[in-house]
Amino acid sequence: MSTTLQHAIDQTLADLKALRRGMGPYPLASATKFRELQQLAQKARETPKPVPAPTAAVVSRLETPAFRAQEAAPSLATTLERYQTLDELRAAALACVKCEHLVASRTQVVFGVGNPNADIMFVGEAPGAEEDQQGEPFVGRAGQLLTKIIQAMGLSRDEVYIGNVLKCRPDMPKGSTGNRKPRAEEMETCLPWLERQIELVKPKALVALGATAVEGLLGETSSMSSLRGRWLEFRGIPVMVTYHPAYLLRNQTISEKRKVWEDMLKVMEKLDLPISEKQRRFFTSAA
Ligand code: URA
Repeated sequence: MSTTLQHAIDQTLADLKALRRGMGPYPLASATKFRELQQLAQKARETPKPVPAPTAAVVSRLETPAFRAQEAAPSLATTLERYQTLDELRAAALACVKCEHLVASRTQVVFGVGNPNADIMFVGEAPGAEEDQQGEPFVGRAGQLLTKIIQAMGLSRDEVYIGNVLKCRPDMPKGSTGNRKPRAEEMETCLPWLERQIELVKPKALVALGATAVEGLLGETSSMSSLRGRWLEFRGIPVMVTYHPAYLLRNQTISEKRKVWEDMLKVMEKLDLPISEKQRRFFTSAA
């Protein structure tokens, strides 16, 4: 505290004590002191406090070559802005080495497939074993079901665009079969590729296939039962959330198939695609 402020406070306290003892003319003097105090307090608030110098430990960490390199490196998202076509972006993605463990385990990067100007873009979670082998998303059992769904919409795989949140197959312990869910940090690292794909394709609607796709694309972790059939949004583009085709392979009831089909009808309506009466009735008892 400054000595002037301390002095003013001391003086005021003395005034107040004197006032308590019944000595005058304090009402005026006290009001003056109070204003004086207010002004000093305001001045103290406005006076910038000295900033402590960074410690030697902080300085030496900031000067390490690794920290300097990180500071100088542009983010992946910024780097990807230079790619103006999907072919350019694909070429760069195929050489990505961001996740060492996935680089070591993958057969190849699975970039995406379809019409570079598609109105509808389907987004899955990550390549499985078949996709890793063939270099194309959704070619295994779940992929074949997705192809059927697309065809039921009156479209072909060549007319839509299909991609994944993760471009490499999540690694699995040696000798084990099946797939694992991509980790949050893997999805975060890979997301700029998908974002740039979406920027270049400019679809009128996205379809997020399953909870992991919704989480990877939008960071939305609510349950599928609350999200499915709803329109969400990614940078102004409507996103329909539906079940992953692998879920339908595990739950082959007509009611679950109908749910996914109703979601696709919503997409078709949003894009003014023709819908026949027969299509409207798919997976109902009237079909
Ligand atoms: N499941 C996905 O989410 N993506 C694929 O490419 C294949 C299966």
